Amino acid sequence: MKKTTSKNILATFAALVLLFLFPFVSCEKGNPDNSGTGNQENTENDQKPGDNTDSGKILIVYYSYTGHCGEIVTALSSNLEKADILRIREVDEDVDYNANGYKLGSDLISAIKKAPGQASSYPVIKEVDKKAEDYDTIIVVTPLWHSQMAAIMQTYLFQNGGKMKGKNIGLVVSSASSGISGVESDAKRLIPDGKFYGTSLWINSSNHAKRASLVKEWLEKNKIKS
Ligand SMILES: Cc1cc2nc3c(=O)[nH]c(=O)nc-3n(C[C@H](O)[C@H](O)[C@H](O)COP(=O)(O)O)c2cc1C
Repeated sequence: MKKTTSKNILATFAALVLLFLFPFVSCEKGNPDNSGTGNQENTENDQKPGDNTDSGKILIVYYSYTGHCGEIVTALSSNLEKADILRIREVDEDVDYNANGYKLGSDLISAIKKAPGQASSYPVIKEVDKKAEDYDTIIVVTPLWHSQMAAIMQTYLFQNGGKMKGKNIGLVVSSASSGISGVESDAKRLIPDGKFYGTSLWINSSNHAKRASLVKEWLEKNKIKS
């Protein structure tokens, strides 16, 4: 009788030890997110707002035809005093994109859509004096044209997007009213290995006047600072 009781005690003790250890063993083996960095909602390269707490050296690269993106850049740079600014310009600065119902811009976008992998599909831009490789975070500020990224900015990213591998990428888009999903797709096509911040900033004609507070909020949300 005594033997049976001590056997029972031993068995109960062993069972308790196993029960206690099991959750730790199974967690280590089975949970791929043990590192705490996994995020199944985003694509492999993307980051959640605030994932990255070190912006490093920042480049703001922009194109602007009628001046809205230029004004957005002013708001950005007043929050990011150490950031460098690069303006992309077309070779022919007298070009009139508003003529004939925006025909030229429409033709440029159509040519890119037809053959996005060919350099000859993109309009010529002036040479740039800053190297994307030298920066950790790149904020792209672009107008929307015919629901896509403005052709001039697409040229810059076609030539330089490959040099932005692993860099933090912020996208700021200005449109009159159209939504920006086409521009976001262009950005991901042209910067295939960039680590995009989870949310882009969309400024349009109805909220452009509030750009200073929108920019500040977006920078804070993504923890972008210089
Ligand atoms: C060629 C061209 C095409 C445009 N297409 C659109 C469009 O499809 N939808 C829209 O909401 N705005 C469109 N816009 C308006 C611009 O996106 C908007 O005015 C933007 O703020 C311009 O930025 P910027 O002043 O920095 O050039 C177009 C402008 C141009 C010049």
